[in-house]
Amino acid sequence: MTDTIEPIDPALPKVELHLHLEGAAPPAFIRGLAQEKKIDIDGIFDAQGHYAYRDFPHFLKVYEAACTTLQTPEDFHRLTLAVLEQSARDGVIYTEAFLSPDFCGRGDLTAWREYLHAITEAAVQAEKTMGITMRGVVTCIRHFGPQKARATARCAAETAGEFLTGFGIAGDENAGHPRDFAYAFDMAREAGLQLTAHAGEWGGPQSVRDTLTHLRVERIGHGVRAIEDPALLDELAENGTVLEVCPGSNVALGLYPSLKAHPVARLRERGVTITLSTDDPPFFHTTNTYEYAALARAFGWTEADFRAINADAARAAFCDEETRQRLLTRLKSD
Ligand code: ADE
Ligand code: ZN
Repeated sequence: MTDTIEPIDPALPKVELHLHLEGAAPPAFIRGLAQEKKIDIDGIFDAQGHYAYRDFPHFLKVYEAACTTLQTPEDFHRLTLAVLEQSARDGVIYTEAFLSPDFCGRGDLTAWREYLHAITEAAVQAEKTMGITMRGVVTCIRHFGPQKARATARCAAETAGEFLTGFGIAGDENAGHPRDFAYAFDMAREAGLQLTAHAGEWGGPQSVRDTLTHLRVERIGHGVRAIEDPALLDELAENGTVLEVCPGSNVALGLYPSLKAHPVARLRERGVTITLSTDDPPFFHTTNTYEYAALARAFGWTEADFRAINADAARAAFCDEETRQRLLTRLKSD
């Protein structure tokens, strides 16, 4: 089997729908900000300078500590350029980034417009110089509670537009029930935002069902635990619900022991629409290029498989039709 694996060209065009902007910050970038601002966060790195965490709850703490260095719109401008540079190197032509107003300048939501402006400016610059398109999905943090989620949804609703196209929820999936966040999602939907929610990562299949019922999202972040419920798989396949699958993230956080044991290929075989993303790549020692190569090795996927998956991602992207058609054309021809 190993000799029949087709090497995947790193330049293969890719569409990524699930990337946390702060979670994509290289450790050296965060260390640099910490030094500039004299913030002591040495404890979040290992001896090699990588982010270090024991498990998912600890990962969330390390993540939040890293975010304390991101204090000004200028920090986010630099971060956005650094992240898009890495993505463009990996052949990503479109990325949808989760933006968390709660992590901008210590969560002062009144300054959100300034942060968003800085991120948007960097995205426009990157599109011109690197040919990568970015859209933003405002993301509330579940363990910060429903009140904060509403305030975050209000930020999103007030700034919805060509760049800010979606609303979502991340964080500790076991904090609260999806119905607690329905008001925030209703507000975002009414503002014309498209919706996604992390579910079926740390919660089982019921978390996916509850999220679809109460939050009425078009896509599910992760959703991989749906594999444990055949009736749910049928529903997802029938309704065309799109899963933003992040295989390397799930393995690094200990959800599955190896990529071979990951359900992404089985989900796809069952007719569920899957897309591929990296979530928080430096935390998981991964890149898009690495993920594709590892998936090709684990499941024998070829360039044709990845092109089909990326076309599904383009069809599910939270962008305008003109952008979508441009992406679909590039996916065929690049
Ligand atoms: N925030 C950043 N990465 C996350 C993940 N994998 N699950 C939940 N929240 C997150
Ligand atoms: Zn995520």
